Amino acid sequence: MRVGVLTGGGDAPGLNAVIYGVLLKAFDLGHEVIGILKGWKGFLNNETVPLDITRLDDLHTTGGTILYTSRTNPFEKVGAVKDPKGKEEAIRKHVRENLVPKFDLLGIDALIAIGGDDTLSVAARLAENCDKKIVGVPKTIDNDLSGTDYTFGFWSSVQLAATTLENLQTTAKSHQRIMVIEVMGRNAGWLTLMSGIASGADIILMPETRFDLQEDVINVLIKRVQNGYIHHMIAVSEGAIPTDESLKRDFKTITKETFEKLPKDVFGNPKLAGLNFSKILADELNKNTKLKEEFKQNNVDLEVRDFVLGHSMRAGAPIAFDRILGLRFGVRAMELVHEGKTGIVVSLRGTNIETCTLTEAAKQRTVDQKVVPDLYELKRLVTATKHVAKEKLNK
Ligand code: F6P
Repeated sequence: MRVGVLTGGGDAPGLNAVIYGVLLKAFDLGHEVIGILKGWKGFLNNETVPLDITRLDDLHTTGGTILYTSRTNPFEKVGAVKDPKGKEEAIRKHVRENLVPKFDLLGIDALIAIGGDDTLSVAARLAENCDKKIVGVPKTIDNDLSGTDYTFGFWSSVQLAATTLENLQTTAKSHQRIMVIEVMGRNAGWLTLMSGIASGADIILMPETRFDLQEDVINVLIKRVQNGYIHHMIAVSEGAIPTDESLKRDFKTITKETFEKLPKDVFGNPKLAGLNFSKILADELNKNTKLKEEFKQNNVDLEVRDFVLGHSMRAGAPIAFDRILGLRFGVRAMELVHEGKTGIVVSLRGTNIETCTLTEAAKQRTVDQKVVPDLYELKRLVTATKHVAKEKLNK
């Protein structure tokens, strides 16, 4: 069997580990593997590379993806068909006429697609409309896929973010500043929550809970400064949104429409990084006279700085957890292809590698308070107890 493998969407630490897992098992089973370059772009344009395991020793220890990646939506143009029923049929037709023939052109019998919700949703369409074997592997630093307990790349990214957040404390403390640090993650707060808790952030703002600038930020900062804290770390998701009331009352530079009118990428996701929400927040805090006054009374000059973690959160080699998870995912994906399975995705459930359907895996999963109440409670305890306990002591 000749199996194609591609990596799509934003890169994530562990992509090479999955590729290596696929190659290890393919070698074991006697199958050939070719790399399809730049995700769906290479699939459409017939850009491939042979993958020779003898030249790729210990590939799982390296970052990035040797296959390159891109955000390519093969249905971008078809998406323009308005009526949902018509659109559905147009997509099916497009898959049959333009995507399915690529299998023969590429000379592959099966495809392993490694990617997030966008890449997997394309794989799901393919699997529904052709008889080739298609298996997915859930990737994203955002950890926002419902088909798996953890995506690979997530914990490496948490580690990178937590290390920087923690390191920034020394400069924030030296200058007695408030640091507003913007964390990737789209509409899911997993990265902000975990890196914020791990690094001891003082305020954590996530997309799942719309926040009130006055209550959730300014009042907390005042309590902290009154109780002896001279520096403050705010971890904020790139997708965090204030409540409508707070937007109206507290923000001078943005409105509700700012969020509604954000430019979108080829898959229709709002380009959140372009908003630079940490800067907006820092500017509002710097200008806040009440905050300035309270800080002054406590002998601290109000100075707020913003910092965007950005692509540093996807940089470098994966941590051991993601190397092992990536390898396990890759090996299992190859086994499933060998068994003739299609339309499914490998997934981590507890400590076991299991499977779910491509359609299920592509569904988004945010940090749901009903599902992980203990994490919300931990966030509350870690962020609030410091100043609440000091306040009690000072009384
Ligand atoms: O989905 C992963 C992710 O890193 C998001 O957290 C972020 O919003 C997006 O990709 C950034 O994408 P790009 O690298 O294309 O700017």
